[in-house]
Parts: sequence; structure tokens; C-alpha cells
Amino acid sequence: MNRTAVICGVGGAVPPRIVTNHELSTRLDTSDEWIRTRTGIRQRRVVEPGTSTGDLAAEAGSRAMKQAGMASADMVVVATTTPDRPCPATAPTVATRMGLVDTPAFDVAAVCSGFIYALQVATGTIAAGMAESAVVIGAESFTTILDPEDRTTVAVFGDGAGALALRAGDRSEDGAVLAFDTGSDGSLRDLITVPAGGAEQRATGKAPAPGDSFFRMQGQPVFGQAVRRMADTSRKVLAATGWEVDDVDRFVGHQANRRIIEAVAERLGVRPDRAVSNIDQVGNTAAASIPLAMADGAAAGLLAPGDRVLLAAFGGGATWGATTLTWPRLPAL
Ligand code: UT7
Repeated sequence: MNRTAVICGVGGAVPPRIVTNHELSTRLDTSDEWIRTRTGIRQRRVVEPGTSTGDLAAEAGSRAMKQAGMASADMVVVATTTPDRPCPATAPTVATRMGLVDTPAFDVAAVCSGFIYALQVATGTIAAGMAESAVVIGAESFTTILDPEDRTTVAVFGDGAGALALRAGDRSEDGAVLAFDTGSDGSLRDLITVPAGGAEQRATGKAPAPGDSFFRMQGQPVFGQAVRRMADTSRKVLAATGWEVDDVDRFVGHQANRRIIEAVAERLGVRPDRAVSNIDQVGNTAAASIPLAMADGAAAGLLAPGDRVLLAAFGGGATWGATTLTWPRLPAL
């Protein structure tokens, strides 16, 4: 089967407010030096009151559609951990705000792997002939679920959105999405979690314990899992594509931590200079991180038409996934 999704537009959006490591160090027991050397992050973008995930998603999605010259889409998928409301999903509002009428729209929740999962759903739907086009968005206001006193997570996470516009096409075209590998292990759910606010806690009939409504991450085990799973899933997707490691021109890993990206590249044997990264500017934006890194990488000229690109992510759940694609020739905006 040669029919697949082909990328025809990319877009990114970040809130205007920049929070530097130095600013964090004025209110938390941390330092620019610690954050830079342990994570590679210099600053992150943070939403201010009045802005939320849907705003960032609609902005990134509209940019991708504009670049693609698309006036309509057959599907909108928003990957997010920080939906505007627990109910309904964020995607229908985003679709309406992008000017799309009566368009199927839904959210995908796979935390930092969410964009890979959402891209897989949209690509599969297009490949099966059930849609001719789609907009896939990763968007987060991740800072809204952080414990402001938790220096480990506050130092790492930021807000933003990234999007791809897709159309039906052929696997031989530049821009073709080629293969996927995804997986999960629910026994690891406590490594990355917001314990309260869901049915499990509400069914107890008791108010949440203090702090349980905030995001919690066990940094070290997550680090180890992220390196192992991102390397394994990358190997599997390369094999499914028929590529050797040396065939990879660009590696866009989940921007979790610069040391994780470097460790995955080293395990795989991908040259470090092939990694596309914006973590120093935006931090870890969870489901938004891969499409935002692609949008920033494309704007910086780091992704050239025909480049063979590997994407890989690890996130809460635990979930992981990898994708191969070729980079399209996109019109300048
Ligand atoms: O996006 C989903 C996937 N997420 C990830 O992949 C994130 C994975 N984890 C990480 O990136 C890292 O584990 C962190 C950046 C979260 C933490 O870095 P680390 O090198 O693993 O630090 P650590 O947890 O081993 O902590 C080392 C020390 C501790 O102090 P003690 O116990 O040695 O006295 C921490 O309390 O560093 C301390 N520490 C900090 N110090 C200054 C933790 N956070 C900070 C901080 N500033 N912001």
C-alpha cells in the first residue's frame, strides 16, 4: 500500500512570556548553572492568565494550515496532557477557532508521546482512505499543572504548541510519513502522574490530599526509561522502514532533557550533530515538544527537503513511540 499521509505544512506557537533560569533562581533553590548542565535548558515560555492550551493549539494549527494552503481538513487531532477542561475535549474548540466547520476533532492523551500517537492515528486514517487531510497538533500549558514549589519540574517544563498539516499522498513523495512503532507499560504509571482530579480519586468521595492535584515526576527512573525506550522504539521503526541508522539525516527526539537526547543518539549511533533541538529555548513542552522542535528546526533551515527524519518520544503512562518520515519542500511564509 503506497498511500500515506504527506506533510504539507508545519506551525509552532509559544506564549510571549519568557522565564529564564535566572528568574527561577530568584524564587526557588536552584541556579542557572544547575539547570543548564543537568538539562540543557536556558529558558522556557510560560502562559499567563487568559491564555491556555486551546489558544496555543489554534495558533500553531492555523499556521500549519496556512503554509499548506488548506482551507479545510477532514480531521483535527490535539495531543495534550493539559486540556482546557476535563470535559469536553479541547480539539473541537480548536477546530472551530481554526475556521473548520463540522470537522471531526478529538484529543489524544499519551503525555509526552502524545504527538507520535496522534500522528499515527491521523496517518492510519488517511492511509485507509477514510480521510484526505488532517491537522495534528501537540499543545500544552504544562506549567499550569506544576507545583510552584517543586524545583525539579518547574526547571524542566514549559508551554507551547506545534502542528503538522497532512494530505493524502504517496510514500515516494518528500514529506511522506512512513512507519510507526508505539508501546506502553501501565505498571509505570506512578513515575509521571497527577494523582488527583480523575475518577479514581473522585470516587473515594474525599477531597484530594494536599499536592495530589499537581504533576509529579520521579526524575531518575524516568530518565533511565526514556533513554532505553526511545532507543528501542527507534531501532524498531528504522527496521520497519528499511533504514539503517546512517540513513537518518535528522533526529527529532522528545525534548525532555538534552542529556536524554544525547544518550539516545549515542545508543543508536546517530551523530549528535544530526539532532534537531530547541530545548535550550523552550524546555520540555511534553506533547508539543516534537512538532515545536520541527517547526523551529524548519524555520532555522535545519530540515531540508528530502531529509530522512526519525522522531522518538517517551512519556507518562508509560508510553513511547517513534516515526520515520521524509521532510517536504514547504512554501516560505
Ligand atoms: O517529559 C517526560 C519525560 N521526562 C523526562 O524524560 C525527564 C527525565 N528526568 C530528568 O530529566 C532529570 O531526572 C531531572 C532534570 C528531572 C533531574 O535531574 P537529575 O540529574 O536526574 O537530578 P536528580 O533527581 O538525581 O537530583 C540530583 C540533585 C538532588 O539533590 P541531592 O538529593 O543530591 O541533594 C536534587 O534535589 O539535584 C537536586 N535538584 C536540583 N538542584 C538544583 C533537583 N532539581 C534541582 C534544581 N536545582 N532545579
